[in-house]
Amino acid sequence: MADLIIALDAPDRDRALALVDRLGSGADHYKVGLELFSRWGPEAVTTLRERGKRIFLDLKLHDIPNTVAGAVRSAAALGAGLLTVHAAGGSRMIQAAVEAARESGPRGPRILAVTLLTSMDPHEVAGVWGRQVESTGPEVVRLARMARQAGVDGVVASALEARALRGALGPDALVVTPGIRLPGGTRHDQRRVSTPQAAIRAGADHLVVGRAVTADPDPAAALVRVRQAMEAT
Ligand code: C5P
Repeated sequence: MADLIIALDAPDRDRALALVDRLGSGADHYKVGLELFSRWGPEAVTTLRERGKRIFLDLKLHDIPNTVAGAVRSAAALGAGLLTVHAAGGSRMIQAAVEAARESGPRGPRILAVTLLTSMDPHEVAGVWGRQVESTGPEVVRLARMARQAGVDGVVASALEARALRGALGPDALVVTPGIRLPGGTRHDQRRVSTPQAAIRAGADHLVVGRAVTADPDPAAALVRVRQAMEAT
């Protein structure tokens, strides 16, 4: 059964906690991203851990290996269960992150690689890398393979890339997919969305759901609908 991660994209502590209270034990993990972490700080993780929640800390780390290793140790001490790094930081940075996570033993965070930001199109990628890029799909797979060889536990990717990644990385890698919407649901600013069923069938094993639940007038009921959709797969 795939895990359900609720993206806690709230602007401050009170709104984040109000949402967690409304959702009860319905989420397997909460994703704390840059917005909430920059506002509320590391306490976002420790407070939610005290409430028994598992945390996906989406900091998208990208720095020299020594600095990233230090950040991973800090995140491990907070109790983050999943943590993101940018694949573009390179093999040595990724290895440093993975080794730092393993220092905490089995309770250390699992490291996930972000390949290409889904906001980037081939033209923008070409501008950054200084070479021709026809489409992002092969670049995502290439970066994911490199990150997996460097030791990551999995990758974050659009559900539309999940099948190719599952094929490239094999059955043991985690494939974590955001951009999930219930059939007929509002897309918001996401361009490439997928239903829970389609994402799981494509090989995703962790679904990140934000506004389909958090922007619903009744988030707890919306969460139940997402769960039902996942279980119906
Ligand atoms: O509200 P929504 O379901 O679109 O939120 C998805 C969450 O996943 C947000 O926190 C967003 O930043 C994150 N995310 C994403 N696409 C990625 C990586 C992360 O939507 N490629």
